[in-house]
Amino acid sequence: MSDRRGGASSGGGVRGDLKQRVKTGRGRTLSQKRWLERQLNDPYVARAKREGYRSRAAYKLIEIDERYKLLRPGQKIVDLGAAPGGWSQVAARVVGPSGRIVGIDLLEIEPMAGVDFITLDFLDPEAPSKLTSMLGGPADLVMSDMAANATGHKKTDHLRIIGLAETAAEFAREVLGPGGAYLAKVLQGGTEGALLTDLKRDFAAVRHVKPAASRADSSELYVLATGYRGAPGAAVAADGD
Ligand SMILES: C[S@@+](CC[C@H](N)C(=O)[O-])C[C@H]1O[C@@H](n2cnc3c(N)ncnc32)[C@H](O)[C@@H]1O
Repeated sequence: MSDRRGGASSGGGVRGDLKQRVKTGRGRTLSQKRWLERQLNDPYVARAKREGYRSRAAYKLIEIDERYKLLRPGQKIVDLGAAPGGWSQVAARVVGPSGRIVGIDLLEIEPMAGVDFITLDFLDPEAPSKLTSMLGGPADLVMSDMAANATGHKKTDHLRIIGLAETAAEFAREVLGPGGAYLAKVLQGGTEGALLTDLKRDFAAVRHVKPAASRADSSELYVLATGYRGAPGAAVAADGD
């Protein structure tokens, strides 16, 4: 027997067998109609609504965490591209009151207990220092779900998302403590070139992850680097002690 949307289900999600269709007209473009249809028929959207998550994206972090055990009580975490706050919710539930989470987005985010948000472009030169002072100490995890609005031009979109992931990695190197982790959205084909080389040099393990909650027809993928070896400057200072 198959589950129906909105009905009780166990495990990973609900498969919709009553596909909802949206009429054209009402000033909707074809792509808006497709987007709405996809939302209405997406089991993760329904599940997020039922379980009180602000976005379906929450399940991507939940799945990655189930597999790689990134989140732990008491951690300090930076959430880049945090709106509307699904990832922060997932992280806040695990790190608890002894942890600290700071999030940044271009869009304003509704306040959330246990998380400090800042509305700012992460590419603004002041963003890294602002986040660092909000965090108040070395981070255990820098996670980025940032995605620039798609232009539809494949190469441009790829370059923009890799640019965001590279800037996030640069920031991660500055703010992570030894053993810390970096998780960032990239696109199919994965992380290449300088970003991959640098991550392999600075972290003990680097892998690409496609959680089930990431739409199969989307070219989205995540790069996960764990076991940060520490900032080179910090290692020299420690050796000199
Ligand atoms: C897929 S959404 C993030 C969803 C979020 N992880 C959640 O669970 O709710 C991507 C976000 O990245 C943000 N973003 C894109 N470029 C950014 C930038 N340069 N600085 C800050 N945020 C950015 C967008 O505004 C958008 O809200």
